[in-house]
Amino acid sequence: MNVKAVILAGGKGKRMRSDLPKVLSTICGDTLIDHVIKNVREAGIDDIAVVTGYRSETVRESVGNGVEFYLQSEQLGTAHAVYSALPFFEKDDGYVIVLCGDAPLVSGDTIKALAEYSEQNNSDICVLTAVLDDAAGYGRIIRNEKGDFLGIVEKRDASPEEVLIREVNSGTMIFRADALRKALASIMATKPENAQGEYYLTDTIAFTANNGGRVFAYRAEDPGVVLGANDRYELSLCEAAMRKMINIRLMLSGVRMVDPANTYIDRDVSIGEGTVIYPGTVITGSAEIGKNNTVYSSRIDSSFIGDGNIIDSSVIESSVVKDGCRIGPFAHLRKDTVLLGENKVGSFSETKNASLGEGTKVPHLSYVGDAEVGRNVNFGCGSVTANYDGKKKHRTVIGDNAFIGSNVDLIAPIEVGSDTYIAAGSTVSRDIPDRTFVIERSKRMERDVKIIKK
Ligand code: UD1
Ligand code: CA
Repeated sequence: MNVKAVILAGGKGKRMRSDLPKVLSTICGDTLIDHVIKNVREAGIDDIAVVTGYRSETVRESVGNGVEFYLQSEQLGTAHAVYSALPFFEKDDGYVIVLCGDAPLVSGDTIKALAEYSEQNNSDICVLTAVLDDAAGYGRIIRNEKGDFLGIVEKRDASPEEVLIREVNSGTMIFRADALRKALASIMATKPENAQGEYYLTDTIAFTANNGGRVFAYRAEDPGVVLGANDRYELSLCEAAMRKMINIRLMLSGVRMVDPANTYIDRDVSIGEGTVIYPGTVITGSAEIGKNNTVYSSRIDSSFIGDGNIIDSSVIESSVVKDGCRIGPFAHLRKDTVLLGENKVGSFSETKNASLGEGTKVPHLSYVGDAEVGRNVNFGCGSVTANYDGKKKHRTVIGDNAFIGSNVDLIAPIEVGSDTYIAAGSTVSRDIPDRTFVIERSKRMERDVKIIKK
């Protein structure tokens, strides 16, 4: 089946009350338009056009490569938007599926099912519909007594009886390309007479039906797929539905979620079997998490986490954590931290652009930044790398098995050899050779209290 997709993303989305074009609102880690594009691709359709209008450049930059763009210079309605992309399907004899850029839940499976239904019924137009408890602002599906599909009436144009109809237009429609061209030509040739004065794509149904064409409505099994985001409340409903879908997929693949309603995971995150996630956890971006980890109320962004780690009430950003580490409670792994395995980064410790060899521990109140640390190094409580001189960042290199006492300052750039000991409270500003003990404290001064009190 030869199918191309046109995604409508020209509107401002006035009801969002935002300067950002509506389709660039983000849920579960992707913009609405990116979700729609991903869904279309998951259905096996790669020929995709996006119609932009309001802040066209911003939308194009955000979407990036891999689709064709068409400009709708004025937002005159959904039919006009599709018409703006006419060159995309002008010569086609296959199918064109039109989707709204603000409806992120029309899944790849639903798109496939709609296309197959359309092909089986040899339809000219087939609309994806759903029966909702509250038909809200959606277009109403009009049928005769026999149940034949006759057309779609927008809520604003509906009679009091039509408003009561609960079967609604999802906004996703699949057309035979020539039927779409004919219907658009007719709609664009007449001045629209509806409440909004817009050229409505939904009018293609009545036109095609009245001209002997075959129009069908395919009802989605799960009414949730039609949810669109017109305002920020609907956006939150779409996000809740998307989050639920993501969490169900992960749980069925072996992830244990103690309270999925309070677990927030982006679409592209992967998590391995046996990993347990407690509520309040937020996992975003392209995070890749392995097997048998335990995560208590933490935020993990775009990081790689291996197997068998325990992460408690901590924040991990753009970092790599291999296997068997204990992180937290209350640790902060900033960008480019690499833990090579069996590490501990404990309470109120922060790391940044630092690699820690196997078995190295930073158990409490430390800062390790711009550092390359060997294996089995122990940072005493409160020890820090002083990496910044006010102008530049400098590196600290530490060999294997170094023992760094409590409250040690390592003034970078500095190299600390392997098998070294640094006494507590030392401020170390020169390199330390291998197998050396260093104590670097200021000399103690003693005076009689009476002199001080004078
Ligand atoms: C539309 C449908 C309605 C359906 C609903 C489903 C029409 C006339 N109405 O209504 O039947 O139930 O979607 O969500 O089609 N757009 C443009 N250019 C325009 C106007 C809109 O690109 O000139 C884009 C918008 O950016 C949006 C999509 O088309 O992504 C739908 O437009 P919107 O204004 O949200 O339509 P609805 O009122 O939701
Ligand atoms: Ca809409």
